[in-house]
Amino acid sequence: MGPLEIAKQIAAYKAVDEYVKDNSVIGVGSGSTIIYAVHRLVERVKEENLNIVCVPTSFQARQLILNNHLTLGDLETYPKLDCAIDGADEVDSEMNLIKGGGGCLLQEKIVASCADELVIIADYTKNSQQLGEQYKKGIPIEVIPMAYKAIQKRIKDNYGGNIQLRMALAKAGPVVTDNGNFILDWHFPQGLTNWNKINIEISMIPGVVETGLFIKMAKKVFFGMPDGSVKEQS
Ligand code: MLT
Repeated sequence: MGPLEIAKQIAAYKAVDEYVKDNSVIGVGSGSTIIYAVHRLVERVKEENLNIVCVPTSFQARQLILNNHLTLGDLETYPKLDCAIDGADEVDSEMNLIKGGGGCLLQEKIVASCADELVIIADYTKNSQQLGEQYKKGIPIEVIPMAYKAIQKRIKDNYGGNIQLRMALAKAGPVVTDNGNFILDWHFPQGLTNWNKINIEISMIPGVVETGLFIKMAKKVFFGMPDGSVKEQS
């Protein structure tokens, strides 16, 4: 395993060890880092006979839960979660996150908003002072397909930068989310800092379903570091 994967794993293991308690309902995030958290959950459920219900944030998370024989729940049965554990594409020094590189931002934000605590697990490359410093793929914005062009234009006119419709790799056409929507990746210009205001303004544009800006939603971030330690931010 390379240093990046080891960093993801140690962050995930620490978060699961510190935040998952017996008789609890856990939101299971999406992406590359959450896989390690699920591995640790499986170990702990077996070793400690924990009673845990897992609520997925995507098709991927649902498959992870099912394939690992964890107990699957949903928000209809469990509208209140004890904790949600998820990855992030970037975290700034004020606990603002960019999420949605994996395209699952909408359900990730819904599940996180239902949890008492959102805990983020990430490798050291996701740790930034300011958004955009490390992560170069832009802020994902999930949109209703018929509105994508109008939203693209509106955001570009209002804030500048570049906005691309995310295209699928193995198909001639756009990425379609688990909710049937498109994703715009906004490569914002340097110098923007008022992310709370920007997030509210973008969310108000008709046709925008959700943004990948998670403003002060996370309670704690665990960064796996290259030296094998875990850096905590809160
Ligand atoms: C995301 O927010 O898209 C992912 O959860 C980040 C990751 O791969 O861990």
